[in-house]
Amino acid sequence: MGYKVVVAGATGNVGREMLNILAEREFPVDEIVALASRKSLGTEVSFGDKTLKCKDLDTFDFTGWDIALFAIGSDATKIYAPKAAGAGCIVIDNSSLYRYDPDVPLIVPEVNAHAIMGYARKNIIANPNCSTAQMVVALKPLHDRATIKRVVVSTYQSVSGAGKEGMDELWNQTKAIYNPTDNVPPSKFPKQIAFNVIPHIDVFLDSGETKEEWKMVAETKKILDPKIKVTATCVRVPVFVGHSEAINIEFEEFLDWQEAQDILREAPGIMLIDKREPGGYITPIECVGEFATYVSRVRQDSTIENGLSLWCVSDNLRKGAALNAVQIAELLGSKVLKKG
Ligand SMILES: NC(=O)c1ccc[n+]([C@@H]2O[C@H](COP(=O)([O-])OP(=O)(O)OC[C@H]3O[C@@H](n4cnc5c(N)ncnc54)[C@H](OP(=O)(O)O)[C@@H]3O)[C@@H](O)[C@H]2O)c1
Repeated sequence: MGYKVVVAGATGNVGREMLNILAEREFPVDEIVALASRKSLGTEVSFGDKTLKCKDLDTFDFTGWDIALFAIGSDATKIYAPKAAGAGCIVIDNSSLYRYDPDVPLIVPEVNAHAIMGYARKNIIANPNCSTAQMVVALKPLHDRATIKRVVVSTYQSVSGAGKEGMDELWNQTKAIYNPTDNVPPSKFPKQIAFNVIPHIDVFLDSGETKEEWKMVAETKKILDPKIKVTATCVRVPVFVGHSEAINIEFEEFLDWQEAQDILREAPGIMLIDKREPGGYITPIECVGEFATYVSRVRQDSTIENGLSLWCVSDNLRKGAALNAVQIAELLGSKVLKKG
């Protein structure tokens, strides 16, 4: 016996990947339904070798369904997640709406799987921001060994993190640059993204940081350790899929770079690719469609007593969203629902 699974936002970047990953990982599904907005009614999406026709989320009855994977943005989540949770269906949500709610666990299974039982307070589990998810997977085993005090991170985030409209904007602007009669002004992004980089993701806060940067701080504390100080600079780059991060870490104790490599090589969810030679590191294009969080360029930071720097890359639609959500569903299956 398997699970009755809902995928809400099935026509979107994350929703499509959730369907792919449920099929790839052979999640024990008895019945599955793909939901989106009314305008997508009947739109076909793939689930393994099957095709599903999308239904309308607005009229869907969640009664009797076990798990709903949501990837529909915060505004729609505010309406539909309480409806699903209230009907007894456990929601795993990709939006930022519930991430900072003390009654909702925020989970990266490699890091804080123990928090899963907190699901029962609201029948909702939150999935972290894409940049946080991959970073905490890399930080966790190093924190366990040498206790992280402070993290300085700069991100290089792909346009797919801004949904399908973000990918279209990069594609259309890039084509338009070679055809001067076309003009594709910025719309999804605040400035031209083709052949450019933009140090601004999500809204500005009074502190001068952006909400995306604040999310990395708040979520790292909630998932990994509230004592870790984080400062982030989040940058959008003209890459379709795959987020990269340059991470500088200050520890309580000394950690030699070779020992850090050994720790990362053994750590769950991590793939270490770190040869100190041209091409001996990972780039975002190589991580597309992969499950792993990749780490390269591990090296000592000699400007502080106990410091390391490293490069971390992952498919933001997978570990940063859909894969993590499916891993949470697997955890829920093994620890709570116990079907399948
Ligand atoms: N992309 C990432 O790297 C990433 C990472 C972590 C978290 N997330 C989060 O995941 C969510 C989805 O992101 P995405 O990149 O997949 O966006 P997307 O490509 O723009 O897709 C949005 C999906 O939500 C559906 N939707 C929107 N409003 C709806 C409504 N009122 N009722 C029903 N369905 C509605 C859309 O359906 P229609 O096609 O019918 O409009 C579509 O299926 C967002 O909350 C985002 O912040 C994304």
